Amino acid sequence: MSNRLQGKVVAITGGNQGIGLGIAQRFVQEGAAVSICYLSDKPGTEKVVEGLRANGAKAIAVQADVSKLADGQRFVEETARQLGEIDVLINNAGVEKRAEFWEVTEADYDFVLNVNLKGLFFITQAFVKHQMKAKAGGKIINLSSVHEELPFPHFATYCASKGGVKMLTRDLSIELAPLGITINSIAPGAIETPINKALLNDPVKLKALLENIPLKRLGEPSDVASVAVFLASDESSYITGTTIFVDGGLLWNYQEQ
Ligand code: BGC
Repeated sequence: MSNRLQGKVVAITGGNQGIGLGIAQRFVQEGAAVSICYLSDKPGTEKVVEGLRANGAKAIAVQADVSKLADGQRFVEETARQLGEIDVLINNAGVEKRAEFWEVTEADYDFVLNVNLKGLFFITQAFVKHQMKAKAGGKIINLSSVHEELPFPHFATYCASKGGVKMLTRDLSIELAPLGITINSIAPGAIETPINKALLNDPVKLKALLENIPLKRLGEPSDVASVAVFLASDESSYITGTTIFVDGGLLWNYQEQ
C-alpha cells in the first residue's frame, strides 16, 4: 500500500462492518485518520477500532443513529473535535428489506428511506455546514448501488432510496462546487457483506445471480475500497456529480441467446 490518503481525516457512516469496514481498513493503510459510527454493538465496534489502530493509525468510533438528525450532526462534530477538520465524508450506512410492493408497511418504508436517504441527506448537510464554518472544502462519497439504475423487484423501498441518492449526488455537485466540495457515488453490485447474508446462504439464488455477473464472481469490500481511495484522494479532484459502478458488469449485462 502507498500513502495516498496521508494526513486526511475521513468520517465513514456505518463503518463497523461490510463495505464501510473494508473502506476503513484500507483507508488507515493509506495514512488516513478514520472515524466510524455505529448503531449498536459497542463491544464489537471497540474491537474493530482496536484493529484499525494497529500499526499506529488514528481511529475512533461514535455511537450514532444516522436516521436521526441530531446524531448525524454529533457524528460530524465529534469527528472534527477528536481527529481535526474532516476532509472526506463517506455516506456508507445502508439497509434493505425484502417485501412484495403491496405488503410494504409504513415502518418498512421509514426504516429504509430514513437510513439510506434522509440520514445521508442530513449528515451531508451537517458536513457542509461544518465545512462552511471552517472555510474548508471537502469530498463527499456516497455508497449507492447498481439499484440506483437497475430495478430490484421486491425491494421497492431500496430502489426508491438509491434513485434519490443518484439525483442528490447530481444536484449537490452543482450546488456545492462553489464551496470547493465535490460529491460522487460508488454503486456496488453484489458484494459479499452482511446486507445480503440471506442471498449468500441460498445456493439457488446465488447461482442465478452469478450467472448475471459477467465477471462471474461476487465483489469483495476491497473492490469497493480501492475506488473509494481514488475518490477520496487528490487524484480525483476534477470529478464531481458522477457514479462509478463496481459491479463486475452486472448493470449492463443484456444478452440474447
Ligand atoms: C444489494 C444486494 C444485492 C446487490 C445486487 C445491492 O445493492 O444490497 O442485496 O444483492 O445489490 O443486486
